[in-house]
Amino acid sequence: MSEEKIRRLIQAATEQLAFAYAPYSDFKVGAALLAKDGRVYTGCNIENAAYGPSNCAERTAFFKAVSEGQREFEMICIVGGKGGRLTSYTPPCGVCRQVMMEFCDPNGFEIILATGMDDYEIYKLADLLPMGFGPGDLKGGGGDSGEI
Ligand code: THU
Repeated sequence: MSEEKIRRLIQAATEQLAFAYAPYSDFKVGAALLAKDGRVYTGCNIENAAYGPSNCAERTAFFKAVSEGQREFEMICIVGGKGGRLTSYTPPCGVCRQVMMEFCDPNGFEIILATGMDDYEIYKLADLLPMGFGPGDLKGGGGDSGEI
């Protein structure tokens, strides 16, 4: 992964903080999802007065991309913090990891956690969601299906 691609994603994710709608937690998150064809889909978190319908930045980016016909992804960058201040890494929640598992190869897809242009770490989805359940597990034909 080229340094330039990474910086482009950190920049795009950081710009999303301005759009984060987080009046309840004041925790603003931005994401930038790179598709295999080079396109970038951005997202921010969008909270709701009823709390439950709130959406994370990562899922906003994924759902925007998938709703536009995109299904092949290379990596995602996530930034976030209270008041939009990037003081520490913002790892994806469990629900977002599962959404990534639906569309991404856990051993190929990469997750960049950043606090700035020169401070980031890169993880494979498989590291953040070990032994994840994905579309392949529903195909059967080997392994323990869990059926009785
Ligand atoms: N949030 C995200 O958007 N992505 C994450 O990776 C962690 C959490 C949002 C959800 C909620 O709006 C706020 O951050 C506080 O949990």
